[in-house]
Amino acid sequence: MAGSDWTCSLSTMREWESPDYEPSLPISEKSNPLTRDIDRASATCIVRMLQASDAQMFQEGTGTTYKRLLSEQVVETLMEVAKRVELILEDPQDSLVVLSGCGTSGRIAFLMASSFNRALRELNKSPVYSYIIAGGDKALLSSQEAPEDDPRMGMLSLKRVCEGKRRVLFIGISCGLSAPFVAGQLDFCLQHPEVFTPVLVGVNPTHQARDEPIPGCTFTFRSVVQRMQELAKSQKAFLVNPAVGPEAISGSSRMKGGSVTKILLEVVLSAAHAATFTNTSVTYMGILQHMRAYEKTLDITYAQEEGISALLEAAGRSLRRGGRVCYLGWGSLAATGLIDASECIPTFGADYNDVRGFVSGGYRELNNNEGPLISLGPDFCIAHEDFLRLALPSLSDLDAVLLVYTHSDDVCDVVKLARRVREKTSNLHAVYHQVDGDTAAAVQQNDINKVCLSSLRISWPPPASRSLLHMQWELSTKLLLNAVSTGAHVLKGKIYQNHMIDVQVTNSKLYGRATRLLRKLSGCPEHRCEDALLKAIYRVDELTADISSSDINTHTLAARNRTKVVPLALVCLLTGRSLQEAETHLERQPVVREAVEACLSPSTRRGVIVARPRT
Ligand code: F6P
Repeated sequence: MAGSDWTCSLSTMREWESPDYEPSLPISEKSNPLTRDIDRASATCIVRMLQASDAQMFQEGTGTTYKRLLSEQVVETLMEVAKRVELILEDPQDSLVVLSGCGTSGRIAFLMASSFNRALRELNKSPVYSYIIAGGDKALLSSQEAPEDDPRMGMLSLKRVCEGKRRVLFIGISCGLSAPFVAGQLDFCLQHPEVFTPVLVGVNPTHQARDEPIPGCTFTFRSVVQRMQELAKSQKAFLVNPAVGPEAISGSSRMKGGSVTKILLEVVLSAAHAATFTNTSVTYMGILQHMRAYEKTLDITYAQEEGISALLEAAGRSLRRGGRVCYLGWGSLAATGLIDASECIPTFGADYNDVRGFVSGGYRELNNNEGPLISLGPDFCIAHEDFLRLALPSLSDLDAVLLVYTHSDDVCDVVKLARRVREKTSNLHAVYHQVDGDTAAAVQQNDINKVCLSSLRISWPPPASRSLLHMQWELSTKLLLNAVSTGAHVLKGKIYQNHMIDVQVTNSKLYGRATRLLRKLSGCPEHRCEDALLKAIYRVDELTADISSSDINTHTLAARNRTKVVPLALVCLLTGRSLQEAETHLERQPVVREAVEACLSPSTRRGVIVARPRT
């Protein structure tokens, strides 16, 4: 199945839509049938699987199942939301559009607010967009999972941003319709309808919104959604929640979840800007055309299968040998690299040095709310100068460096940096976007090609609009870097089947996911899995009464500084070994997939995990 000739049939593309497919899980947590064998796939097959998974974003619905990205209802809601933004742009006095979310959703909120405020500034208009990310700006660059569980913090941060405003369009993003932080904000909006119009963006149908009680609250995410559904009938609230299929790596909403959030928000905000500043009304066809441009973006990007596979191989080789992967980015693509790199920590249990992003212009270019964060430590040093100071001196051929830019950026600067890197490593690669026929930077590109081991050129037809082209370049770069970092970690053995086995257990959603994963992979009953998880978190062979009676919040706090929690719990469950023995076993075999497989004998297999060679 995962051999070098991997292809997928339409029925595999649609298998997740069946009501019998993992019925207890929301779409955002289901495992994708397309990527079941991604852990033993070759680099090329990984890219094909990711392409197929991304293509599910644009698949049309079959009528009876889920709302999809291109469904009439979704397009119509986007039009209505765009018109609300238009009203604010026309009369911005005391008004605001706030975008908010946790993890990747907050990062996309940041990117959107930044780029559309920049567009306003270019027109000599005042900014109207604000972003909120759970955990504050440090969460833009690092994993801050715990604040996601805090609805009060969500509410307070929204209140603070909106102080004194008379009209606010609040766009809460939670791919899984699950983050208590966002639920708290939506609840606050619902309590103050005279000021707030709430919009919820996610990728699950409303009946799959999370219904777990939130400590200290009378509402759940689902009950908030139900109140919004009522108000949506009179357009006092809006729900934008197309189904795009399960993530390629189960639950990794940084991938499709992040991409579709970017698409939806850009479609809405661009339509509103066009309506306000170029007199182009918001139309159904206009929205649809913009979506189709993103579909084309996928085609153009994945047409580079060979080049992407080569990058993924190079990055995977570096990670396997203990080397680093560095993205050096220019212009708006640099932030995409920074974000992709930061997400590897919670997703794969990676060290912050494993994959790092650096931005030309550093914090000046990032222009985040809280300004430079360098006082937080070296992992928050993000400028190219920081790369030269902190990373370059110890760079070797073990480390892979990717230059990420477009021909609209300062290509002379790319040449300069490329030459400096080349003095330290030959493992240097370029990824760049260029408009067909544009030869302005041909000489510099030639110089870059000479020092790079590989150069991946993504070529675009002359654009109808410059801003659309930039959005396409950003999405293309996101897809490509997601593929490189995910694929590299797959090749490093950090994925089991298509699950993030080394996931950090630092909030209630991740705690639930970890317990479910242990159940699935060990075949043991839930209570045993939860016990094993707690033992791995607290590093004890017997649970004390204190531990057993503590709440999930306490457990996730305790898990903050732990590594390999889920792999340890799994080895203990599968082999009956003590924690110490399991730890030694994992130390001897750091490739988690192989460590777990080595524990398996036919008697412990329970028909769930099968050790398989990479093809
Ligand atoms: O907390 C973990 C996480 O899954 C992140 O990886 C993700 O970006 C974030 O939660 C937000 O998830 P959601 O958009 O579903 O609220």
